[in-house]
Amino acid sequence: MPAVNSNPLTVAVVGATGVVGATMIRMLLERGFPVGQLRLLASPRSAGHRIDVAGTDHVVAEATPNAFEGVDIALFSAGGDTSKALAPEATARGATVIDNSSAWRMDPAVPLVVSQVNPDDLEWHEGIVANPNCSTMQLAPVLMALRDAVGLERVVVDTYQAVSGTGTKAIRELQAQVEAHVARRPLEASVYPHPIAFNALPQVDVFLDNGYTKEEWKVVTESRKILHLPDLRISSTAVRIPVFVAHSEAVHVETTRPISPDRARTLFAAVPGVVVQDDPATSTYPLATTAADTDEIYVGRVRQDPSIDGGRGLAFWVVSDNLRKGAATNAVQLAEILVERGWIRAAAARNAAGTRA
Ligand SMILES: NC(=O)c1ccc[n+]([C@@H]2O[C@H](COP(=O)([O-])OP(=O)(O)OC[C@H]3O[C@@H](n4cnc5c(N)ncnc54)[C@H](OP(=O)(O)O)[C@@H]3O)[C@@H](O)[C@H]2O)c1
Repeated sequence: MPAVNSNPLTVAVVGATGVVGATMIRMLLERGFPVGQLRLLASPRSAGHRIDVAGTDHVVAEATPNAFEGVDIALFSAGGDTSKALAPEATARGATVIDNSSAWRMDPAVPLVVSQVNPDDLEWHEGIVANPNCSTMQLAPVLMALRDAVGLERVVVDTYQAVSGTGTKAIRELQAQVEAHVARRPLEASVYPHPIAFNALPQVDVFLDNGYTKEEWKVVTESRKILHLPDLRISSTAVRIPVFVAHSEAVHVETTRPISPDRARTLFAAVPGVVVQDDPATSTYPLATTAADTDEIYVGRVRQDPSIDGGRGLAFWVVSDNLRKGAATNAVQLAEILVERGWIRAAAARNAAGTRA
């Protein structure tokens, strides 16, 4: 990815001590984002901690309203409560927030954007841009290809999600349970309601009144918003599995017009950032272990679903790194688009400046 051509910007990473925050810092460096000054922010617990960034020592500061003075772009990944409290403080000080929590995603005044699906929605941001949930993120570009070519009628997606999606504590919990198993000690669970090692938990996040979990409902509502399909029929079951990094998804789609698996593979491969890995003869299909630490979304096991009439049913398997494309990479890609298109400042401020000019 070529470096974005811009004057150096002051960039804040809120939640810099977390797994997503750490990945955001890596992505800013790897992608050559024009960072002039980097501010690493976290809770009071981490204030004063030091983080080495490309050989330079950075001191973590507490995320307070005044920490956003002079910030151009603030990448938030510190939970919904922190985003609710501090994103408006950041925008009031002129920063544009790219928020990784669920706090603002379904706010009609906030664009919810996957870089290769709906980048034009960034144009109308008023200071806050929402980064989608990781499960939705890897699904939307693939669904976009079908929406544009043959229309989408109904989607059923079942997820197999890595523990890193829950954060640092869950990574440690899986590791500790594996070690306890090997040492023949009892498995202790505190992050999840049951042991995650050697298990599959059909609960990701809390349950809602409709019987779905919050994670499942995010896939439903966020997909509709990103794809601009408010009436899309979509259902999901989200399952946590003992994988450290990369979410997998089994997807069943009913399209409006017929589509063959071959055509679907061609359409998927044409989406930027999507890679088709599909050769049953050699047991080639997307795997969490090979997707981890990459930015691509991998699709395979593409086949006709014979339970749908008229060749309008497809089934496939989608895998992507939840920390990279599912969180940090997309956030940095959105920042790159804001810079490239001159949309860093809020739309009203840009328009006012344009009117005065
Ligand atoms: N993990 C994923 O795959 C993923 C994907 C998409 C979105 N997200 C979202 O990203 C956010 C962070 O997730 P994570 O996985 O990185 O979690 P994590 O590893 O537990 O890290 C949480 C981060 O938030 C900071 N934080 C907590 N309370 C804070 C406060 N009151 N003020 C300022 N900072 C605070 C923590 O700072 P301290 O170290 O000081 O406690 C830490 O830096 C969550 O909103 C999550 O929903 C995660």
